[in-house]
Amino acid sequence: MAQLLAKYSQFVMPDHINVVGTLFGGQMIAWIDLAAAKVAHRFLKGSEADGAVTRTIEQVDFKEPVYLGDWVNFTAKIVSSGTTSMHIEVKAFAEGSKSEPRLACIASLVMVSVKKSNSGIYIKHPHGKSI
Ligand SMILES: CC(C)(COP(=O)(O)OP(=O)(O)OC[C@H]1O[C@@H](n2cnc3c(N)ncnc32)[C@H](O)[C@@H]1OP(=O)(O)O)[C@@H](O)C(=O)NCCC(=O)NCCS
Repeated sequence: MAQLLAKYSQFVMPDHINVVGTLFGGQMIAWIDLAAAKVAHRFLKGSEADGAVTRTIEQVDFKEPVYLGDWVNFTAKIVSSGTTSMHIEVKAFAEGSKSEPRLACIASLVMVSVKKSNSGIYIKHPHGKSI
């Protein structure tokens, strides 16, 4: 059975902070992309694909600011799949040392399974998986 869930965590360091003192949005998106890549990697185990690439980041909703010293705990879930596509929802929960985890960001992504062609480039390739 294909694996549909993955978890991933990051700690917010000074290099991740923007000019208003909160987590830089582009950094959050990069981490979301990695969380999605992790669940795609799991989903593709046993398939003919060599990996997955991001096709779209459809929506990113920054619901709460994230601060220096927070842990950001991501959950990534395959919500549906097609021939080569995997539709993934990522949630980011920020957790301060003195506060309960809060939903800081939610995003929807589409990743596509790929295989290395004879010419060396990666092209879409059916993953043969379903959820
Ligand atoms: C990803 C890539 C290999 C797909 O090749 P392609 O020939 O463009 O493929 P398609 O347009 O047919 O899309 C492939 C799948 O994605 C789906 N898709 C494409 N655009 C979509 C969109 N905007 N929303 C939802 N699904 C989409 C298609 O429906 C198709 O799904 P299916 O095979 O399950 O039916 C190619 O576009 C590519 O290399 N893009 C660059 C990827 C990249 O560099 N990402 C950043 C670094 S990881």
